[in-house]
Amino acid sequence: GGGDRLPRGKADLRNTERSGGKTEPAASQWRFNRTLSNLIRKNILKFLDAERDISILKGALKPGDVIHYIFDRQSTTNVSANLYRLLPAVPPLRNEHHQRCAIVGNSGILLNSSCGAEIDAHDFVIRCNLAPVEEFAADVGHRTSLVTMNPSVVQRAFQDLRSEAWRERFLQRLRDLQGSVLWIPAFMAKGGEDRVEWAVSLILEHALRVRTASPSLRLLHAVRGYWLTNNVLIKRPTTGLLMYTLATRFCEEIHLYGFWPFPRDPHGNSVKYHYYDTLTYEYTSRASPHTMPLEFRTLKGLHSQGALRLHTGACA
Ligand code: CTP
Repeated sequence: GGGDRLPRGKADLRNTERSGGKTEPAASQWRFNRTLSNLIRKNILKFLDAERDISILKGALKPGDVIHYIFDRQSTTNVSANLYRLLPAVPPLRNEHHQRCAIVGNSGILLNSSCGAEIDAHDFVIRCNLAPVEEFAADVGHRTSLVTMNPSVVQRAFQDLRSEAWRERFLQRLRDLQGSVLWIPAFMAKGGEDRVEWAVSLILEHALRVRTASPSLRLLHAVRGYWLTNNVLIKRPTTGLLMYTLATRFCEEIHLYGFWPFPRDPHGNSVKYHYYDTLTYEYTSRASPHTMPLEFRTLKGLHSQGALRLHTGACA
């Protein structure tokens, strides 16, 4: 509906679903729409190149350089010597192409889903904000190819490393990442400087085998620009949407798990905001500039069209 009036080559990514969800295919009927997926990849490439924008490279700056935060333009920070040392010299995922990728969001909808094995069966698994896996492996899996770390999670999930025990827990979480990419948006919002520094110095001090990356300074605007041209006005894209947008470059079929920004499931049962902590939706609607429900509707529309697959139920 409505797609016929769009210029040639432009995909209609709005959710065209009619009330009642009648047009949404049942899980078993979902078919990958390669044509649409290719078109989306091509259109995103007009705004950003994930191969490049997934990380600032060493060559682009030097220790001590002044950076203006993306969301807090008036505040600046200096590139620390440690962070600089951990920036990649070459693009971290250059020439990587994967058939099936999973992006795992952190919604409580994953609890009791038994989706762990299904998630781990993907060729590339993206996770968000160092969410714990081992204790929840049956539902979320544990394979991790790339994981993000907003500086704020050091405070939220690791108590700002205030005691030796928290420091040890954080270190263990980083140790578990061996070989995967740790994606740290170091320059998005002010206030995370120390937390980034703690993480990078632990990695260096313990010579951890994690491949650090930090998004380019233009990524945010480019992602916003892409979605805006598709009539989706997103002030501050969530980590999950950023990951989907980047993943189109490296992945053929993209499967989303743990995306459900609502306090109730379709049967009316309550759903935790995060599968692993006690944060509530109330907390986030007050504190968060995200528009997760709008993002969700957009992703759901893409699911209906077969461009991606959104898994919100239990796995077989
Ligand atoms: N997500 C979701 N429904 C939830 C919680 C999370 O769909 N109830 C998705 C969002 O895309 C989110 C991602 O899972 O970006 C990871 O969750 P989280 O760690 O909460 O990410 P952000 O909210 O983006 O992180 P922050 O609060 O630090 O900005």
